[in-house]
Amino acid sequence: VYHTPELTPIDHLPDCAVVIDVLRATTTIATALNAGADSVQAFSDLTTLMQVSETWPPEKRLRAGERGGAPVEGCDMGNSPLDCTPDIVGGKRLFITTTNGTRALQRVEQSPSVITGSLINRQAAVNYLLHKQPETVWLVGSGWEGGYSLEDTTCAGAIADSLKQHTDKIDIGNDEVIAALALYHHWQDNLLEMFNQSSHGKRLLRLNCHEDLKYCSQIDYLDILPIQKEPSILVKL
Ligand code: MLT
Repeated sequence: VYHTPELTPIDHLPDCAVVIDVLRATTTIATALNAGADSVQAFSDLTTLMQVSETWPPEKRLRAGERGGAPVEGCDMGNSPLDCTPDIVGGKRLFITTTNGTRALQRVEQSPSVITGSLINRQAAVNYLLHKQPETVWLVGSGWEGGYSLEDTTCAGAIADSLKQHTDKIDIGNDEVIAALALYHHWQDNLLEMFNQSSHGKRLLRLNCHEDLKYCSQIDYLDILPIQKEPSILVKL
């Protein structure tokens, strides 16, 4: 498990990177593709998002922007997965920039394979890894501004836990994974309470995002896997 950018190795990449931003970017990306979005394009900065999305037909694009948990002015929406309903996102490309999740995606976008994981699509991510059996896998927690986050590490533990239950062929890597597994085992029956205690969960509660937290805590809720088609662009597998 790595947190980007400070803790993520800079001199090599894995065969498969699983980017995790449970609250909320990778939950939103999974929900948007499940609701029929054509694709998601992730940006670390708003200016580039605006420039690139300008080249798309207005009826085929949606701009989602979040900073500090709040929606960014000038975008069509913030980063709430609950806004990703079929009538809003269906058939469109979601151009998205968030504080940490989209930066984490950018950090590993040159990896041969990049997928996104969250609690809601945990099993879909695990099934992909079991099927493809990449030699090296990084579970990349987006964290918060370069630091640790409880919910991303717990989700990494949830992925590792299911992998361990389904195969004895994998080597459960480093100390970070062992710690992530312990965290998941501690919180697995009370994931919403884990959010309530986490610093970003508290930030979102201050912004009245109670329903978002409930939604994001539903483990294995959607059978959908966002996968990178080309750097920064994700589609449904
Ligand atoms: C992020 O990228 O930091 C987030 O997804 C923040 C959020 O919108 O909750």
